[in-house]
Amino acid sequence: MINDKIEAIKAAVQVQLQQSGVVRDVQDIRVKYLGKKGELTSVMKELKDLPPEERPQVGQLVNAARGVIEEAVKEKLEELKSQAMAAKIEAEKIDITLPGRRPNVGHDHPLHRTRRLMEQAFLRMGFSLVEGPEIEEDYYNFQCLNFPDDHPARDMQDSMYITEKILLRTHTSPMQARILQAHEPNEPVKMIVPGKVYRWDYDATHSPVFHQMEGLIVDEHIRFSDLKGLLENFLKEIFGPRTKVRFRASFFPFTEPSAEVDISCVMCGGEGCRVCSHTGWLEILGCGMVHPNVLRLNGYDPDKVSGFAFGMGVERIAMLKYGIDDLRLFYEDDMRFLNQF
Ligand code: PHE
Repeated sequence: MINDKIEAIKAAVQVQLQQSGVVRDVQDIRVKYLGKKGELTSVMKELKDLPPEERPQVGQLVNAARGVIEEAVKEKLEELKSQAMAAKIEAEKIDITLPGRRPNVGHDHPLHRTRRLMEQAFLRMGFSLVEGPEIEEDYYNFQCLNFPDDHPARDMQDSMYITEKILLRTHTSPMQARILQAHEPNEPVKMIVPGKVYRWDYDATHSPVFHQMEGLIVDEHIRFSDLKGLLENFLKEIFGPRTKVRFRASFFPFTEPSAEVDISCVMCGGEGCRVCSHTGWLEILGCGMVHPNVLRLNGYDPDKVSGFAFGMGVERIAMLKYGIDDLRLFYEDDMRFLNQF
């Protein structure tokens, strides 16, 4: 009777183990048969109802069955474990014959690249580089540059004010005043100032935030011809040796005489096209001899020294150099655009 029971339990365990597919099922089976209230455990309790001479033999049978079941459970657990491992290995299998994945290597933004090209050209010509504050005082942005209060020239550079006297700089020129004031009176300077500037403007060729590069030289006997030679060299270096350069009279409160500089159109070479509005020329920068008032206002003596200054837009140079017709492309971070550089 008991023997049959034990055999039945062993058989049932075999079948149930075979059907279980997860560790949890196997653990349940162990509890169901071998646990404190398990089926094999209760058979053990029935031993006391047997005649004493039969007890040792049946007891051995129960113990043997326990051993068999424990072994079967252990085997099943191991089987499940190695199945899981095999599945994991399969899932993570590496196909070493696949071609390698090319890492995405970044590169300079076209504006940054342009700025660096410009900087390098000037550094080779012996300029030092300084940067200045983007939040600027009206005093440096206008007053020290000979913009009288309420002068209409201020309207050329409509700005974003933080307080009545503090604004986002509209150009890098305030650094002219800061540089001169930071030097001994009449001490020679030769510096460029790259950086962000801000204006109340937004269209295909104007952004409220853009970049300029300012240049300033002050020393004894600096002449307009020095300015012409230097800028012509620079522009040929950036746009190519066949580039023609022309100076047109212009006005800035802080330079006298002032000029605007054009280069022969980079698209048509001067023939006339849509880009240059059929003039053959492109306006590229503003410049001039430092106004005597600016020298005086910033501690220099216009009778002893002279100088010139120039300022140009980095975006504009990048657009012309790379043939980009909408400035907003620079700020949209569209990889299809950026990857072309
Ligand atoms: N600051 C002027 C501008 O932003 C450019 C300039 C700089 C002109 C230096 C003359 C000298 O328009």
